Amino acid sequence: MKGILLAGGKGTRLYPMTQVASKQLQPIYDKPMVYYPLTTMMVAGLREILIISSPEDLPRFEQLLGDGSRWGVSLAYQEQAAPRGIAEALVLAETFLDGHKSMLMLGDNFIYGRLDFLREEVEQLKEGATVFGYRVADPSAYGVVEVDADFQVVSLEEKPKKPKSPWAVPGMYLYDEHAPAYAKALAPSARGELEITDLNRVYLENGQLRARPMGRGIAWLDTGTPENLLEASSFVHALQSRQGLIIGSPEEVAYRRGYLSHDAFAQLVQQLPRSVYRDYLEHVRDEGSVVAT
Ligand code: DAU
Repeated sequence: MKGILLAGGKGTRLYPMTQVASKQLQPIYDKPMVYYPLTTMMVAGLREILIISSPEDLPRFEQLLGDGSRWGVSLAYQEQAAPRGIAEALVLAETFLDGHKSMLMLGDNFIYGRLDFLREEVEQLKEGATVFGYRVADPSAYGVVEVDADFQVVSLEEKPKKPKSPWAVPGMYLYDEHAPAYAKALAPSARGELEITDLNRVYLENGQLRARPMGRGIAWLDTGTPENLLEASSFVHALQSRQGLIIGSPEEVAYRRGYLSHDAFAQLVQQLPRSVYRDYLEHVRDEGSVVAT
């Protein structure tokens, strides 16, 4: 399975922060936002990831993340000329995917917690698509999945005024190799976008859409408004300072998942500028094989 990290869009709701750099480049506490979904994908076991962004921002992502080799992964880049919908990511990624299955993740989605459920779904996916359901107090701002008692999907709606369930669909989706073809065949919605919910509905109509609940032990936080950003930053700060472990470090994930040898990791840490971030990674390096579960 290959990964697609969609990080385009204008981020106008965060104006004026997003005048110069896009939303996904803004910090959540001490790291750029995109580090969090990127490390989620790395933890899920993905090693080949395509980053999609606007022509203005794509070079900034490239500057920030590079080709991924220092983190033991391979990162490629692709422009999205205009924000024509989340499902367009699958059309743009077709060549990159080259017949592989995919995990699509939105660059502004923050997910924290034990990700075993995700690794299980990645390993299990043979054909069809998988979405996740996350219980929220007000699902009307999201895609919403209605499920029966066995968590079988009954319906899917995008930002319904009257949600049929409390299960919002986070911006993290798993697809079989047919997704680019299905996405190409979609008609743009009233707002002129290729809607991800429409793509997921194609799988639903084919009887091939699976939904998996993300338990309450997982945090899925919004990053849409300045207040959401502050809350997400506070969340990261609270956990990090309590545990002495940091969330969303690609260096640490690469090391702990064995994408980098101890020596390669030690060398990488040596190259970082003196900072709290480097102090932390030096600590990880010196702990050696002690695994933080
Ligand atoms: O966060 C989860 C939600 O994401 C889902 O529950 C919804 O079903 C899904 O439609 C989406 O809703 P949003 O309202 O968050 O979509 P938005 O248009 O704001 O786009 C989400 C991110 O994707 C945003 O950071 C910008 C980026 N994006 C969006 C579009 C439409 C792109 O990079 N290119 C695009 O063409």
